Amino acid sequence: MTFYEFFAPVKILAGTAALEHLPFELRALGARRPLLVTDRGVARAGLLAPIEGAFAEAELAFAARYEEVPSDSSTRVVAACAARYRTHDCDAIVAVGGGSVIDTCKAVDVLVTFGGDDLSKYIGAGALDRPLRPFVAIPTTAGTGSEVTVAAVIADPDRGVKLSLTSPFLLPHLAVVDPRMTRTLPPFLTAATAMDALTHAVEACIGRARNPISTALAHAAIGMIARALPNVLRTPDDLEARAALAEAATIAGIAFSNSMTSLVHAIGHQLGAVYHLHHGLCMGLVLPYALEHNVAAAPREISVAIGDLLLPLAGAEVFARTAVTDRPHAAIAVIRRLRDDLHAQVALPRTLRETGKIERHDLPKIARRTLDDGALTYNPVPVAYDDVLRLLERAWE
Ligand SMILES: [Fe+2]
Repeated sequence: MTFYEFFAPVKILAGTAALEHLPFELRALGARRPLLVTDRGVARAGLLAPIEGAFAEAELAFAARYEEVPSDSSTRVVAACAARYRTHDCDAIVAVGGGSVIDTCKAVDVLVTFGGDDLSKYIGAGALDRPLRPFVAIPTTAGTGSEVTVAAVIADPDRGVKLSLTSPFLLPHLAVVDPRMTRTLPPFLTAATAMDALTHAVEACIGRARNPISTALAHAAIGMIARALPNVLRTPDDLEARAALAEAATIAGIAFSNSMTSLVHAIGHQLGAVYHLHHGLCMGLVLPYALEHNVAAAPREISVAIGDLLLPLAGAEVFARTAVTDRPHAAIAVIRRLRDDLHAQVALPRTLRETGKIERHDLPKIARRTLDDGALTYNPVPVAYDDVLRLLERAWE
């Protein structure tokens, strides 16, 4: 590594009273007619109540709402949402939801800033050359980290492809991480999205673009997830543990937005795309095996980096009494135990077979598709077709 760049300009408001500051922050961003964008599940779960409460005493109101974002958003949804923004003469966007809502809003912001309805014009480095309209992201899952990342992925059903937008201008102006927004997240989704956040942090530490700042943040996030996740599953209303999990997902998001993801995401993207499995579930299915592959195939410094994960995963005592050479496999064993615990507690599948959706004879197809995934280029060692197939066979069990 001859140099690295680290960019984390998103203002973050976090904590159990963070949402109360939203009207003030919006006004400071110059917003007078913000558009609220969410999905029906969020609205139905009553998650908008604290936001509406914060606006009740403010001299600011939402000019319009769009509550119809589906779990797998598309260019059509983005165009419809942009139309709502324009019809109501809005001047800012507030996204309340998971990765799909936040990514949708990033794309909407591109359209309402640059004009038109054709997102495909804005793909590629340098396609966005100036700041977008004020945009606030309020995550309701503790996983994707999209509130602090430079990317958005939107399906284009007309062309049958996924459009990947990447630009520093896609970073929200503000992220509000308030545990009240994740308190009603069902146990299965809490576990799956936590596995996504954990994978972001782990991959941030070992990928080719890893750097000391990302690693420091990722270690902090891993420790917070390891401590908070069991508490949240035991006591879903534990706001302190919910806050830790939500903040950890944001911290992991900052880490991987700067050091990228690699093998786990490269394979997980294919499992998600082919079988419509939850992204976080796909991460948990692949993570231990990808780490085992990298311990065996990558240079010693990567084994050490994986061994170092034992400290945040298991704590100082376990770390100190484990020999350096044993730490990589001990760290992977902790992740396997976590996976088994999540299976026992919320029925999160442990293996490809247990999903009940993946066909074993499809594994060569998944392996072939993986080789075309951009995340693979960040794996610390090159990965061949046979490597991926062997990994998938082991993950089948
Ligand atoms: Fe992810």
